Amino acid sequence: KFLTFLAANVPKAELHIHIEGALEPELALKLAARNNVTEVLSKYDSSVAKLRESYNFSDLQSFLNVYYDTMQVLRTADDFFCLTRAYLEQARIQHVRHVELFFDGPFHVRRGVRLSSVIDGIRSALENAEAEWGLSWRLLMCLQRELPPEEALHCVRQIGPYRPWIHGIGLDGAEKPNPPERFADAFNLARSMGLHCVAHAGEEGPPPYIYTALNVLHVERIDHGVRAVEDPSLLEMLRVRLVPLTVCPLSNWRLRVVESLAQHPIKELMDAGLCVTLNSDDPAYFGGYINENFSAMIHEKHLNCTQVLGLLENSFVASFLEPNQRNLFL
Ligand code: ADE
Ligand code: ZN
Repeated sequence: KFLTFLAANVPKAELHIHIEGALEPELALKLAARNNVTEVLSKYDSSVAKLRESYNFSDLQSFLNVYYDTMQVLRTADDFFCLTRAYLEQARIQHVRHVELFFDGPFHVRRGVRLSSVIDGIRSALENAEAEWGLSWRLLMCLQRELPPEEALHCVRQIGPYRPWIHGIGLDGAEKPNPPERFADAFNLARSMGLHCVAHAGEEGPPPYIYTALNVLHVERIDHGVRAVEDPSLLEMLRVRLVPLTVCPLSNWRLRVVESLAQHPIKELMDAGLCVTLNSDDPAYFGGYINENFSAMIHEKHLNCTQVLGLLENSFVASFLEPNQRNLFL
């Protein structure tokens, strides 16, 4: 189909990708062996097939369980380098020209991996891609909402020495019993440091979580946000305030946020006048990178050419690039 071909080959930005979610089982097992931590994957028989079999999720938590298990194989800066390089190879093939990448700060710190290892490894791979093929990038530290807010605050305090390479913070993890306002202190500190602020909200959680992400955390973008369709006045607020949504259709489908791709509310969100972008979230787990998310929506929602080009252009409009670089045709 022509539109799928077009979307696949046009330069684009990816704004919602967790680097740990790009850890394919083959690399996970290789890193487990090299770090002598094969036991962390023993409940999956340390096999690629068993790992992939476990990627049959019933909700966000069932995914997070496997995702947090698997990322334990990441120990050294070189592990994060290899992981990021592998993702960027796919991104290059899929014509991703600009990426805004998340990593899970507090989770790694809690399991004894220093932020310096995480950041140095990711950053080296990003800088190589920048030098070799002109990628532009931003790096954002996600705070895990199921961990204590003090650990989030502690991680934001530790950003200081890495400030040149950290452009913002996000909020991810188990959404439902953990409303955004618990993390107001961490977000206030981040904002005072000049960091960009985004948050996952309205993925599994209800519309009020989107309101508090906006009004208490003062985020500039909402990650997912698909449940905003349930609240017309919230849609209006997102439109008037020009708050983009980073939507991840394959993720929403695989985590049963939507019953089927055909029932994904992307058109309602676009028709409400919102700045919607398409992204992969955790491509190793959800069966596709960014272009597969475009082709899924083109096929299942019958998007037209204007809608597809709009999504591609929005990926730059919604980015944290300098305003004069937020252009599809640069
Ligand atoms: N961490 C990685 N992917 C996530 C998602 N889709 N929602 C919440 N936390 C996440
Ligand atoms: Zn996410």
